[in-house]
Amino acid sequence: MATVGLLYNLGKYDPPEEGEPPDINAELDGESTVVAIAEALRWGGHDVVFIEGNEDAYFRLKNTKIDIAFNICEGLRGESRESQIPAILEMLGIPYTGSGVLTLAISLDKPVAKKVFAYHGIPTPKFRVFDLNDEPATDGLSFPLFVKPAHEGSSMGVSPSSIVHDETELRCQVDYVRRFYRQPVLVEEFLDGREFTVGIVGNRDPFVLPIREIIYEHVPEDHGRVYSRQFKTEFDNEEVFYACPADVGAEEAAAIRSTALRAFYALDCKDVGRVDLRMDREGRPNVLEVNPLPGLAPGFSDLCRACEAAGLTYNWLVTSILEAALERYGLTHLSSKAAQAGLLLQTA
Ligand SMILES: Nc1ncnc2c1ncn2[C@@H]1O[C@H](COP(=O)(O)OP(=O)(O)OP(=O)(O)O)[C@@H](O)[C@H]1O
Ligand SMILES: [Mg+2]
Repeated sequence: MATVGLLYNLGKYDPPEEGEPPDINAELDGESTVVAIAEALRWGGHDVVFIEGNEDAYFRLKNTKIDIAFNICEGLRGESRESQIPAILEMLGIPYTGSGVLTLAISLDKPVAKKVFAYHGIPTPKFRVFDLNDEPATDGLSFPLFVKPAHEGSSMGVSPSSIVHDETELRCQVDYVRRFYRQPVLVEEFLDGREFTVGIVGNRDPFVLPIREIIYEHVPEDHGRVYSRQFKTEFDNEEVFYACPADVGAEEAAAIRSTALRAFYALDCKDVGRVDLRMDREGRPNVLEVNPLPGLAPGFSDLCRACEAAGLTYNWLVTSILEAALERYGLTHLSSKAAQAGLLLQTA
């Protein structure tokens, strides 16, 4: 059993300041998630040390004896914010769960991640980046288009207005995203096909969780087919708004799973990830993005709900992520009680 440093960024509940977007705190972790992860780690027989991933984290980590870090830090600021704590951990020689510095930086930069997908021949919507909003609009792109910040997650800056149908709407939405999120804007072709998200746990022979579909049939007309923050918080009836496992044929399921895995490997993800996909007109799954730090809020986050659908507990999820990391680092002598008892699926 290990002494695990649990590294997180707790949400602040101050209202957004003037000029800040309404969803500025969306990425940060809730206390209940941090407590749930700690309980799951203790279930595995580990000791847990809590470490806030803030500016003092370097000194806390330098002066605290831990065997491995369980990292869920989204970072506080900067376009590579998710990489900062892993970079510190590497500098101090501390093993950690999940993807490394480069993977976290690339996947948070959606245009760069898309270039990597393109190199590997992984379908992803056609796009261009708007830095100043004076670029020619749509060369090579067909309306409707989808407008989102280039470096955000947790549906930040994503709403029904993200779908734009003409040049005027496009300029207006690009302007809004630039102003509030202060970063380049990613404009993609809008794919209105079925939407899926696929959780992956492990490394060489990873466990692929049941495909989870986001069902748009019963969302209010004015909301549109977008998996927004509002969708996630208000349309939460599992039976109405989701299907897990998704009702897809064997061939389609295989295509979704293999596209998700190709994207996971293309970005060199480690231990855990969640891939968001949408079908194009030809019925091919396209990758929208890879989340190497998927949300772990019990009973809420897609990954946790996909585990529930597979009959896998939260304890299984958390200890399997840790186990995958322990195997990578050759630290299996520190394995969970559950792993030693053969209760975890083989994920190495
Ligand atoms: N090109 C697109 N075509 C159709 N829908 C899209 C497109 N891009 C994004 N979306 C919609 O917007 C949602 C959020 O987009 P995306 O997954 O890129 O953002 P995110 O904020 O990083 O998500 P997460 O909350 O998973 O971190 C998608 O789940 C999908 O519903
Ligand atoms: Mg997403």
